[in-house]
Amino acid sequence: MSAPPGSLESLVRRLLDDVRRKAGIRHDRPLERKLTRILSAMPLAVLELWVAQVEAADPDSPDWLSLIENLTIHETYFFRDPQHHEHVRRRVLPALIAARRPERRLRLWSAGCASGEEAYALAILTLEALADSGEARRGTDGIVTDWDVAVLGTDISRIAMRQARHGCYGEEGMGPFRDLPAAYAPWFVPLVGQAAPCRRVREDARRLVRFERHNLMGARPPEGAPTDHGFDLVSCRNVMIYFDDESRDRAMRGLMAAVAADGWLTLGATDRLPEGASFERVHGDRAVAYRRVAGKAPGQAGPGKAGPA
Ligand SMILES: C[S@@+](CC[C@H](N)C(=O)[O-])C[C@H]1O[C@@H](n2cnc3c(N)ncnc32)[C@H](O)[C@@H]1O
Repeated sequence: MSAPPGSLESLVRRLLDDVRRKAGIRHDRPLERKLTRILSAMPLAVLELWVAQVEAADPDSPDWLSLIENLTIHETYFFRDPQHHEHVRRRVLPALIAARRPERRLRLWSAGCASGEEAYALAILTLEALADSGEARRGTDGIVTDWDVAVLGTDISRIAMRQARHGCYGEEGMGPFRDLPAAYAPWFVPLVGQAAPCRRVREDARRLVRFERHNLMGARPPEGAPTDHGFDLVSCRNVMIYFDDESRDRAMRGLMAAVAADGWLTLGATDRLPEGASFERVHGDRAVAYRRVAGKAPGQAGPGKAGPA
């Protein structure tokens, strides 16, 4: 049975539809409960006007953004899923470094990076992989390389992007360091004189990373995307699990199109590439990454090869 127009329930439904249309995020019970809790604090007459305003608002407008801030889940931590990160360091990045030796340039994108941990981890892994392959030097000031490396981190949330740019992370509770492998601990420098203990990403990694707000449902590539060729590596993990099927397809098409010919794509454990996508699966130890099959548009059928490359 549908809720009477103007009731709290129907206004919640209208906003849930709006959130799905503009951000791709599907309806579910926890989201509905959260929204009902937020909206029930407002008188119904005010609420109806506000809902109409939000529906008419552009997804970049302050009204709409303040709503989405309250509904998105920004759960993340450094080196979440260590097997995935090892695969990127030992398999994906060495292959990319070998392929890009003539240009000595790497462009990476972490899409839906929440407060930035994944984007900084990509910078750290890239510097480590460059040093492992003799393309960078480990010194007392960190890792030094003459490669031109840039990592772009994006998220729909303005607040998350602000935290990410700051690059400082608190240590309390189940915080961002909960799964940090000991080998990567030297990449984080304790900040003194803070009210609560926190650490900052080391300067050699931090200076490679920039953050921009970007909606995966939008038609435009993110600000700062390479204009001459695509990204060498695009990573989008634990983001599309919140999307409905249609939005997931749309986001996936955008991500695939952003990958350079022979570039790589890494996804969350439950994400699947569409049938016929021109990417091959490259397996590691309980991890998989996708390499674009050179010379084909991202939606075209590849050789369908599965298994270790
Ligand atoms: C659970 S976090 C994942 C963070 C990180 N990728 C990881 O795996 O740890 C999901 C992030 O996706 C972002 N997000 C949700 N919908 C989005 C959209 N339409 N465009 C861009 N980011 C979105 C949320 O703001 C949130 O920060």
